[in-house]
Amino acid sequence: MSRKPSVLITGASGEIGHALIARLAAADPDRPIVTLDLNPLPPESAALVRQAVNGSILDTSLLDGILAQYEVDRVFHLAALLSTRSEFSPALAHKVNVEGTLNLLEFAQKQGESHGRPVAFFYPSSIAAFGLPDRTVKAKAGKVKEDDYNVPTTMYGANKLYCEHLGRYYARHYKQLAAELVSGKVDFRCVRFPGLISAETVPSGGTSDYAPEMIHAAASGQPYACFVRPDTRIPFMTMPDAVDSIFRLMGAPRARLTRTVYNIGAFAPSAAEIQTVVHAAFPRTEITTHVDEKRQGIVDSWPADVDDSAARADWGHNPAHGFASAFGEYLIPSIKKRYA
Ligand code: SER
Repeated sequence: MSRKPSVLITGASGEIGHALIARLAAADPDRPIVTLDLNPLPPESAALVRQAVNGSILDTSLLDGILAQYEVDRVFHLAALLSTRSEFSPALAHKVNVEGTLNLLEFAQKQGESHGRPVAFFYPSSIAAFGLPDRTVKAKAGKVKEDDYNVPTTMYGANKLYCEHLGRYYARHYKQLAAELVSGKVDFRCVRFPGLISAETVPSGGTSDYAPEMIHAAASGQPYACFVRPDTRIPFMTMPDAVDSIFRLMGAPRARLTRTVYNIGAFAPSAAEIQTVVHAAFPRTEITTHVDEKRQGIVDSWPADVDDSAARADWGHNPAHGFASAFGEYLIPSIKKRYA
């Protein structure tokens, strides 16, 4: 039992969880971290958390147990099925991505009511919430704003877009007809991440995975067949910048936030540009293109870049890595060390 303000992280064994736990533990070693994940945490993460609960976000008895035991005032709800995986099991994706998020929002609302402070709730949405109708429109649209082209073509994108609305509902309109004022409304904060690239971990089940897969394959001496056309362009960001953006958004005074959902970007290379820098760093590597038309179709519906001016103005989004430094200063040196 801990009555210290605690943090709950769902999906903590995933890529973002791995990086976030390290940063949270370093920033505030006294604040207990509780995790909820179907998979066990890697040992380096497990060493940093108070309790790692093994189980599903769909199991409300587990959430009730955490509610009774901890005074959670921050939730990072990272658990989800990613976009490629979700297309193979859309109904399951809806369960995990939507019902799971509803469970966590209810959890946060109840926690807030029990300790009288709104729970800060971080939700990672995605560029998958966008859906551009075709490549011509995509090329013309350039940097898209949050509220444009909100017509996703994937189950995952539809789930993310809807959960953005659910979060806004819990933050601003929850039980709006109740006679009594509802206390502890969830302080929902959300970014739409671009494709993320980590030097430490490789994603699974995403559609932006061609970039991280190409880099990790090349560094480990494996050939790689890229599943999108060389001219394919979407925004990307390094994992340290992604975690930095989570910290900045969660640390911002609530009054500064004009929105509940923010675009964030960093750099937006084509697949060919990524291939060129990876090839320069690992000249012996063999990178070919073998287009998967279906996954290509999904990436073609995502914007070539995002307009993140609101995030920059409201809470100082300012990624350290552009395209050149992401590869030159972070990815290539760290990955070389990892596979040495
Ligand atoms: N990068 C994720 C994916 O490809 C989208 O958020 O599924």
